[in-house]
Amino acid sequence: MENPRRVEHQMTDKGYVPVYTTTVIEQPWDTYTAVDHDTWATLFKRQREILVGRAAKEFVENQERLHMSAEAIPRFDDLNRVLKPATGWELIAVEGLLPELTFFEHLANRRFPVTWWIRKPEQLDYLAEPDMFHDLFGHVPLLLNPVFADYMQAYGAGGVKAAAIGPEALQNLTRLYWYTVEFGLIRTDEGLRIYGAGIVSSKGESIYCLDSPAPNRIGFDLERVMQTRYRIDTYQKTYFVIDSYEQLMDATRPDFTPIYARLHASPSHAAGDVLDTDRVWQRGNGEGWSNDGDV
Ligand code: PHE
Ligand code: CO
Repeated sequence: MENPRRVEHQMTDKGYVPVYTTTVIEQPWDTYTAVDHDTWATLFKRQREILVGRAAKEFVENQERLHMSAEAIPRFDDLNRVLKPATGWELIAVEGLLPELTFFEHLANRRFPVTWWIRKPEQLDYLAEPDMFHDLFGHVPLLLNPVFADYMQAYGAGGVKAAAIGPEALQNLTRLYWYTVEFGLIRTDEGLRIYGAGIVSSKGESIYCLDSPAPNRIGFDLERVMQTRYRIDTYQKTYFVIDSYEQLMDATRPDFTPIYARLHASPSHAAGDVLDTDRVWQRGNGEGWSNDGDV
């Protein structure tokens, strides 16, 4: 077998442009270098320390059930031996970002694509695309949660459907993913906690999302979220707070077709907007926000 490629975004005069790949590979575990294992260890230890009292408790518990540790880059096969019997999910290794429809089809079949390669040491704090640390450390633990596992599959099926409806429907659905799977907060008896993969894999945002007075924290509302633009190159201006994974599942169970039609006729909200109808946990002071760049 040929060595898998490391497919990364390309830098152009318009900034980073994503490059897509559909190939599913075997995780080339033996090709990881000492530097790769070290990068994993550094990131793993750093995040686990920051996430004490910040991440949802099931997040860390599930990492432990999966035997993820700082010691070495996990073998996807080992993780699958825990994951598959528990919730039916299976990790597959990929070379980089997948085209939307391919990604949805994998999720709809309970296959979670994980980038095989890890960032370089000089990218510890930021890189433009998902790497193995983001995918494994951030996304995989909650696939052990039965309700969240169902949500991810339903999202995949919903994505296949939205893609057939049209680009606006897809945009509405992508915002839902962004504000839940990637940047979601959850309410617990101990206070707000992080469950979004984009947050837990980021040192700066793990702190910012809970401690900073700058962003809004607003109660989750399905249509509100689907109408809200977001930031891809800065910390979020708004985080949406769910009460439970069941709430997320219940809210997203209905057929979205009429919702897409309704949203089609109404304008989107800027990433930092607060509406009269919002259940506001914190109204951000907007410190450090740039005025353009919502997508
Ligand atoms: N119920 C949604 C639909 O009909 C599918 C979905 C479920 C989307 C869960 C996102 C999350 O399209
Ligand atoms: Co992600």
